[in-house]
Amino acid sequence: MTEGPPITDIGLITYKGFNLIRNVHEEVHLHKLEKFEIRENDIFIITYPKSGTTWMQYILALMYHSDQLNGEHSKRIMEVVPWIEVWMKRIDYSKMPSPRTFASHLPPNLVPQQLRDRGKVIYIARNPKDVAVSFYYFHNFSKLLEDKPDFDTFLDQYLEGKVFGNSWFDHIQGWYSNKDNFNLLFLTYEEMRKDLRGTLVKVSNFLDKNLDDAMLDMIVEKSSFESMRLCPNANLEHQSPKYFDHSKGAMLRKGKVGDWKRTFTVAQNEKFDKIYKEKMKAPLGFGWDL
Ligand code: A3P
Repeated sequence: MTEGPPITDIGLITYKGFNLIRNVHEEVHLHKLEKFEIRENDIFIITYPKSGTTWMQYILALMYHSDQLNGEHSKRIMEVVPWIEVWMKRIDYSKMPSPRTFASHLPPNLVPQQLRDRGKVIYIARNPKDVAVSFYYFHNFSKLLEDKPDFDTFLDQYLEGKVFGNSWFDHIQGWYSNKDNFNLLFLTYEEMRKDLRGTLVKVSNFLDKNLDDAMLDMIVEKSSFESMRLCPNANLEHQSPKYFDHSKGAMLRKGKVGDWKRTFTVAQNEKFDKIYKEKMKAPLGFGWDL
């Protein structure tokens, strides 16, 4: 058996205090990642889990590497826009064509240090109540996370940061307070939902990527919830049943804004709002309907 980082009481790997999903190798190489060489045109999507990572992975794959998604030797989006901390041992990142596109859930202190000097970061934030619901269902779908007995139990762990990705409050505030230390574009899941085309224009301007109308139309169409849900690659249906129980859920579950209202009880909501007020040092102005 390979020796890896310790497994916590909530079934996760912890590295420098950050809880990570147990990946295929039960081992992460984050110390190597901190020294990872960044290219000028590298692009990182950074999110707290369940905030729209796969959505942006698919968008960037369509923008930059659509040739790799089709044809006889087509690749999975996980290979085209790898989750950097998980796929390190499987993919030789030095052989990826530029611009390299990556996804990550790491906090600012654990991402490659050179990302402060070069490369670009797209951070996507989502209403933390919708994240909580999405995350709860994801625990039952993912075989690398413990099933949770009920939403109330999970919500307490989530509010305490005893989950994969630690505290939502720390993640978002950590990145927000560091936004000037990186070349970073802040987006919200809600704005993507409200105006996908407008968001894509914003993203393409940030990335200096020229997208003509036809390309924009194509990406808007292919990255809509409905199209992605029907696309096995985008819906991660090719991921091994070792990692996902496809009979228990799907990556593209509901894709809604404000759906937390159907799950939270009044008491859960009051508790959440109280903790939100305590933990958020300054309003971020994202206009969430909390
Ligand atoms: P729900 O569980 O609320 O449906 P991540 O990729 O960071 O794990 O986020 C997953 C969430 O993003 C899921 O939310 C999923 O449905 C949503 N999502 C993925 N692609 C989407 C799309 N094209 N449109 C809207 N939501 C999308």
